Amino acid sequence: MKDPNGRPPKRLLEDPYNRRINYLRISVTDRCNLRCIYCTPAGRIEKLAHGEILSHEENLRIARTGVSLGIDKIRVTGGEPFVRKGIDSFLEKLAAIDGLRDLSLTTNGILLSRHIDRLMDIGIRRLNISLDTLNPEKYHRITGQDGFDRVWRGILTAMEKGFSPIKINVVALAGINDDELADLAALSLKYPLHVRFIEQMDCFGAAAQCAGRPALTETGIRKAISGIGDLVACDRSIPGNGPASRFRIRQAFGEAAGGSPRKAPGEIGFISPVSHHFCSRCNRLRLTADGRLRSCLLSGATIDIRGPLRSGADDAELAEIIVRAVEKKPREQEEAGRKTDCGAKMYAIGG
Ligand code: 5AD
Ligand code: SF4
Repeated sequence: MKDPNGRPPKRLLEDPYNRRINYLRISVTDRCNLRCIYCTPAGRIEKLAHGEILSHEENLRIARTGVSLGIDKIRVTGGEPFVRKGIDSFLEKLAAIDGLRDLSLTTNGILLSRHIDRLMDIGIRRLNISLDTLNPEKYHRITGQDGFDRVWRGILTAMEKGFSPIKINVVALAGINDDELADLAALSLKYPLHVRFIEQMDCFGAAAQCAGRPALTETGIRKAISGIGDLVACDRSIPGNGPASRFRIRQAFGEAAGGSPRKAPGEIGFISPVSHHFCSRCNRLRLTADGRLRSCLLSGATIDIRGPLRSGADDAELAEIIVRAVEKKPREQEEAGRKTDCGAKMYAIGG
């Protein structure tokens, strides 16, 4: 069957469990200017050698092939994307791919201010920014750097310039930021920010840093923020929901005082890979900085695409490799080996 323009129909990516895969996350570097305790393994970090990391051109070629297979949403992650040289022009070329509907970026925000105008020009509007605390000293404790003010300034600037949605990723850390979760949630009452609480995953060799305390699950997080108001579920049909369950806080005291309840400009979300599996809705494929396709965050099973790319594979062969990676997608976490060691490095996969 041909479409009205005479083109052959697009071959769409679907895994063996009827999930349509339309979302690619590209980790452009394993390097980062922070050392977050939940992401960085204790001891020496093995860095990829320069030649092991895909060039921008190689990433673009894989992205274009993915889009030809129905990928219409790409997120660029790291490590930290802004430490990679030439990132802005890479993003510009990525944004220009015909058929790509949605391009977004995950950053720790340290270098955001200096790139923000360029992002605006390129047309990127969606940002995920990691911020686990509102306390500058604690920020240092969590990330190893005095970066709080820079990140916060970056967030304010992004809001002023009209980026939307701006999602704030908060990893809930028992004994570290659990006293601040309500304050972080309250950001959504003041600003149009989407504050997303993420359960800490412990299979990356970094969890020892919080040892001695039971990890915080969604139930614990909800309890910690319950004082600030009711959570009203957002419409699940909104596109781009991803794995987060989303809510808006409705403040009770407006009503008690006889006024109508105040609707928050921002949202709250929970991403709960530990207590609630969201595998059935998973639509994503990951490309690691060293050129491996990973069909599940928690599965060590990856497929090398760098080797074939560098030995001259044509577009059809690259497409075949992407199809094969999608066919390997496990049905759910247990199958992927969450309970054992997934052997993954979060800073190289990009979350
Ligand atoms: N558990 C949960 N989330 C993590 N991230 C990184 N490491 C972990 C972990 N161990 C998330 C952070 C960061 C994003 C890039 O990945 O939220 O914002
Ligand atoms: Fe922190 Fe992200 Fe850097 Fe990991 S990659 S150390 S989560 S900022």
